[in-house]
Amino acid sequence: MSAVDALALRALYTLPPETAHHAALFALEHGLVAAHAEPDDPILQTSVCGMDFTNPIGLAAGFDKDARVIDAMLSLGFGFVEAGTVTPKPQAGNPKPRLFRLDEDEAVINRLGFNSGGVSAFVKRLTERRARRHAPGRVGANVGKNRDTTDSAADYVAGIEMVAGLADYLVLNISSPNTPGLRALQARGPIEDLLRRALIARNRAAPDPKKPPPLLVKVGPDLVPSELHDIADVALAVGIDGLIVGNTTVERPSWLKSPNKTEAGGLSGAPLLHPSTECLRRLYRLTEGRIALIGCGGVACGADAYAKIRAGASLVQVYSALIFHGPGLAQRIKRELAQLLRADGFESVADAVGRDR
Ligand SMILES: Cc1cc2nc3c(=O)[nH]c(=O)nc-3n(C[C@H](O)[C@H](O)[C@H](O)COP(=O)(O)O)c2cc1C
Repeated sequence: MSAVDALALRALYTLPPETAHHAALFALEHGLVAAHAEPDDPILQTSVCGMDFTNPIGLAAGFDKDARVIDAMLSLGFGFVEAGTVTPKPQAGNPKPRLFRLDEDEAVINRLGFNSGGVSAFVKRLTERRARRHAPGRVGANVGKNRDTTDSAADYVAGIEMVAGLADYLVLNISSPNTPGLRALQARGPIEDLLRRALIARNRAAPDPKKPPPLLVKVGPDLVPSELHDIADVALAVGIDGLIVGNTTVERPSWLKSPNKTEAGGLSGAPLLHPSTECLRRLYRLTEGRIALIGCGGVACGADAYAKIRAGASLVQVYSALIFHGPGLAQRIKRELAQLLRADGFESVADAVGRDR
């Protein structure tokens, strides 16, 4: 980490976590954070769901919920940025405080509850971005439901219809632990109905019906084997393009040290690395490489990303580690990952996918 980055990170640490997040977003939005990107090592180039990526390391959803800092994050070296989760109507989310750092554990607990500026403002920003010169790199749009909605699928359909023409790929987030009833959508009946309706909406709204944007579903890391089996079955049967594995966990490992470990919400960061990678490995075995998997949870270095890839991930996402390691993180992960791939004799990321299944 550069001295300037270390200093900025120390300053952010003196603020309450959500204030620090808003300060970071402000700095990114106003060009106060220096770009870190160097050209990507060719070994990191990859192609997933028909999209080319100069590197497989992405920013996970939740950091840029309202699509404000996509280009700033791409210029930190991420190969792709997933904006959202965005809800159809604006909503405030849960009462504060609702974001907690677990410094001793390099972890975070959040119970934000889909605070969102709503899909209209999100669409406006994506439209403006398209019209101006913007950073290369892929953009995903992650959609959710409003808390007070009774027809959940209708919210997802509304979101997909609004963003389908503006993002490279689309994500249905059905795994946040902070919206009551949301995770129940992962059960066999509801997920099948939701995916069928979302695929119809995606196909209807795609600017080029012959090449609609890939549709992925983000699942949680707490699913038991029978639930994973059902999700894999349904995903393959209805023909979605991939799964993101996964969201934050409601589990609390007994060895957590931080006093904040008792806060309610979803836990992310280092303690999530192993369980989410195991969940990914199971889903890779169940889907046998027939749909794309994005690995997410606890990645903080090249070795963590490499473990996800070897377990079956074609792409990898990061969020919490940014809070602890700062804006140079994507560059470091990529450098280490390229070294690890070469050391094991791989010629590309794709060659290593699923090697440890
Ligand atoms: C503060 C915070 C907010 C998040 N918000 C969202 C969200 O809106 N949508 C979503 O799909 N995931 C959200 N996530 C989950 C992350 O995208 C990611 O799946 C999870 O944190 C695991 O990755 P990590 O250990 O690298 O953070 C959020 C995570 C954090 C820490």
